[in-house]
Amino acid sequence: MYISIVEAYREYSVEDRGRMAALERVNLEIGKGEFICLLGPSGCGKTTLLNLIAGFDRPTSGFVRINGETVTGPSENRITIFQNYGLLPWRTVLRNVELELEARKTDKKERRRIAEEYTELVGLSAYKNHYPSQLSGGMQQRVALARALAVDPEILLMDEPFGALDAMTRMSMQDEIERIWREKKKTIIFVTHDIEEAVFLADRIVIMTSFPGKVKSVIDVPLARKRDRTGADFLKIRDRVFAEFELKTDDEPEYYL
Ligand SMILES: Nc1ncnc2c1ncn2[C@@H]1O[C@H](COP(=O)(O)OP(=O)(O)OP(=O)(O)O)[C@@H](O)[C@H]1O
Ligand SMILES: [Mg+2]
Repeated sequence: MYISIVEAYREYSVEDRGRMAALERVNLEIGKGEFICLLGPSGCGKTTLLNLIAGFDRPTSGFVRINGETVTGPSENRITIFQNYGLLPWRTVLRNVELELEARKTDKKERRRIAEEYTELVGLSAYKNHYPSQLSGGMQQRVALARALAVDPEILLMDEPFGALDAMTRMSMQDEIERIWREKKKTIIFVTHDIEEAVFLADRIVIMTSFPGKVKSVIDVPLARKRDRTGADFLKIRDRVFAEFELKTDDEPEYYL
């Protein structure tokens, strides 16, 4: 498999309370070009799992393998887009899109050409000389997306990227990322706690639950794209996902080890 997560377990030590399992053992295989959504409530280990794949963090036991190689740290082939965009306020849109290319020492002219191309891809050509403070939240998110795509990573890791956006903007960003994913054929692992967002975007939804954080189940979403958010099949899958979260309180295991 392209990405293999094998018995990946992460625990933390918390003062006075001993060790705590942030993430129970996870086994997951992800194919190249798949769109995977990690879906679950706050604290279930979504960011923890994403960080293990990104290589920002290492599992306490188990491992993550990409293209047959165990992940031991970050790589140029994987890029993470965070919720707060991480734009530099003193740089224009184009200069923000160029940032990662600069870090990778791409030649200046080539850098500008690529930045123009990706700024256009996310529909911001008319704003290329604006500063982040002159843009809406959705536009800033697009800049962050263009910047990540500009270095042509194989894997995009997105941690609740649309969490700060209003519902309408959020839907248009979902349309946008789905279009770009189809066009650029990236492998995307997308964290969200929004069920409809996951059903709209994912080939497969990895459902996570808390106390302790773990993968509860994986649901296939075999709907044709572009998906109709109001279609009967869409709503059927949404209801099925929703049912996964109806926790029975009496089978909550002990949180602290
Ligand atoms: N550095 C850390 N030290 C101690 N505990 C941590 C650390 N990072 C995460 N945790 C704990 O691990 C659990 C999982 O955290 P994680 O950030 O992965 O959750 P999440 O699903 O991303 O939540 P959210 O939706 O709120 O972002 C939480 O209980 C959290 O308190
Ligand atoms: Mg998180």
